[in-house]
Amino acid sequence: MPMEVRVVRDATALADAAAAFVADGIREDPDQTILAATGETPMGTYARLADLVRRGEVDASRVRIAQLDEYVGLSAGDRRSLIGWTRRAVLEPLGIEDERTIRLDGQAADLDAACRAYEAAVAEGGGIGLALLGLGPNGHVGFNEPPSPADAPTRAIALTPESISSNARYWGSVDDVPRRALTAGMATILAARRVLLVASGPHKRTIVSRLLDSPPDPWLPASHLHAHPAATLLVDDAAMPGSRN
Ligand code: F6R
Repeated sequence: MPMEVRVVRDATALADAAAAFVADGIREDPDQTILAATGETPMGTYARLADLVRRGEVDASRVRIAQLDEYVGLSAGDRRSLIGWTRRAVLEPLGIEDERTIRLDGQAADLDAACRAYEAAVAEGGGIGLALLGLGPNGHVGFNEPPSPADAPTRAIALTPESISSNARYWGSVDDVPRRALTAGMATILAARRVLLVASGPHKRTIVSRLLDSPPDPWLPASHLHAHPAATLLVDDAAMPGSRN
């Protein structure tokens, strides 16, 4: 069964809908592990969730946050690390203690061992309850770059030129973007009980169109989600092919 597709008016409505989706999930299972994307798209969602937390409408303090990806080789405390971003955008605003994160350690001397430790920690926490994902311009989810088979494990990968150039805005220039990253594997993502994939803005329209037309295909890693039993694609009008904007 292909993914459920929900289209909302604009980025604000997307943030509201995604935050409501995540908050409902947390109320149902307050102890679950959430795989939480960084990137631009879910930032409004986290801000809206933080509003719900502040108003006492949801308590996220028992949730565990699993990092979705991390650059390899940054120095400790580098603000551009994805764990730093996760702290600022997710943990602090939602009132989740740092110790409740399952980290991908991009500074580990043995990256394979770090990936295995991550998978073991995810399993020990009962697996992923909800994966909140963004959609890369090349169809990546996390840093599962094309080609990524459905059973790809958590691993170190080389970023594709497309991902390097789309992340250059966070690094000043293309040359400064790290070339390698760790990513939660496609298999870990597909084992999540529910998946919410968010895409917003006209620059996502081409990849959303390809995704909607594609059967599960390693060359478009997000398309594996069509085979997931509970995956939702939430897009705004601007990202939806054929919409009027
Ligand atoms: C971020 C991540 C990436 C992004 C994707 C979309 O942790 O894993 O897969 O979700 O590149 O990024 P934005 O939302 O910035 O368009």
